[in-house]
Amino acid sequence: MPPLKNDTFLRALLKQPVEYTPIWMMRQAGRYLPEYKATRARAGSFLDLCKNTELATEVTIQPLDRFDLDAAILFSDILTVPDAMGLGLYFAEGEGPKFERPLQHEADIAKLKVPDMARLRYVFDAVTSIRRALNGRVPLIGFSGSPFTLACYMVEGGSSKEFRTIKTMMYSRPDLLHKILEINAQTVTAYLNAQIDAGAQAVQIFDTWGGVLSDAAFQEFSLRYMKQIVSGLKRENEGRRVPVILFAKGGGLWLEAMAESGADALGLDWTCNIGQARARVGGKVALQGNFDPFALFGTPEAVRAEAGRILAGYGSGSGHVFNLGHGISQFADPEHAKVLVDAVHELSRQYHA
Ligand code: CP3
Repeated sequence: MPPLKNDTFLRALLKQPVEYTPIWMMRQAGRYLPEYKATRARAGSFLDLCKNTELATEVTIQPLDRFDLDAAILFSDILTVPDAMGLGLYFAEGEGPKFERPLQHEADIAKLKVPDMARLRYVFDAVTSIRRALNGRVPLIGFSGSPFTLACYMVEGGSSKEFRTIKTMMYSRPDLLHKILEINAQTVTAYLNAQIDAGAQAVQIFDTWGGVLSDAAFQEFSLRYMKQIVSGLKRENEGRRVPVILFAKGGGLWLEAMAESGADALGLDWTCNIGQARARVGGKVALQGNFDPFALFGTPEAVRAEAGRILAGYGSGSGHVFNLGHGISQFADPEHAKVLVDAVHELSRQYHA
């Protein structure tokens, strides 16, 4: 694999000196980009796009051709994992992801197994293909959903507002939920290690729904399994450390506990004060975030001002990767995303003297 030309993102994750604050955006390849919509139409559907090595590579690179981003993220989805477990993923138009066979009965849960990683071969092929196409331009991030977030979709059978089915299971048959989470944790560990072997240079675990849990339930049903994954990951490849980022949306109350997880960095949603978060994690981990994705709906001047406020909030020194606090909206104006990326690069230099 060719050497990295821009490793600012990897250095910031390890709190090593950088010249400016690196930035990437969650869901940076997506429907807000007309070129993404065109490629997706060519692929046929979102899932066909994920499974087509050449087109998945193409959409991964699209945002890098528009914006001066410091990292690429594998184009895929967290739900490829339960799909490989046999749950039958499909996307109903306008309704988001759904499973044909959700896990709601004890007999089905008893049959759940770590899938053969060969069923996810298309993901690892995409990783290797993207690495080649990047040609050392910026590092490539691999990812997975957290065991709990995956379980939300697996048990509910799709997106949910109240999480009634999984919470009923959690409070009435915790043993069943633990069984699912244990299998998910083993699967995610193997899945991320295979992404690293295929060429991922950092990995992020998305705990999109951890924030709907009580404090006690977050520790028992989410954080515990993320720690198990982190301790099973390959942390060095191609002679470099492979940093791990934990992102728990709504997890601002648990930063101290997450900082002890063994991860190199924590993702923050936009509800946290990043300066206070930095003090709370006490230099144990780097921080990634935390621009409100909806602030991109403001004027270019407001986007710049908000970027400046977050950079000043973090303050001087390395250990900050700029990002959105969650995925970019499909209705965001790409021109505003460009204003954000350029503002972060320009305004952050003063903090890295
Ligand atoms: O960041 C990137 O650019 C990489 C690609 C990526 C996608 N999904 C592509 C995608 C990543 C990292 C994900 C992760 C993902 N998927 C998460 C965790 C992150 C988060 O946003 O909290 C979750 C919860 C999912 C599950 C999922 N996939 C949902 C709920 C949806 C529907 C959302 C919607 O906006 O309709 C998807 C579909 C999806 N995943 C799209 C993309 C670009 C839109 C599909 C399309 O093209 O229609």
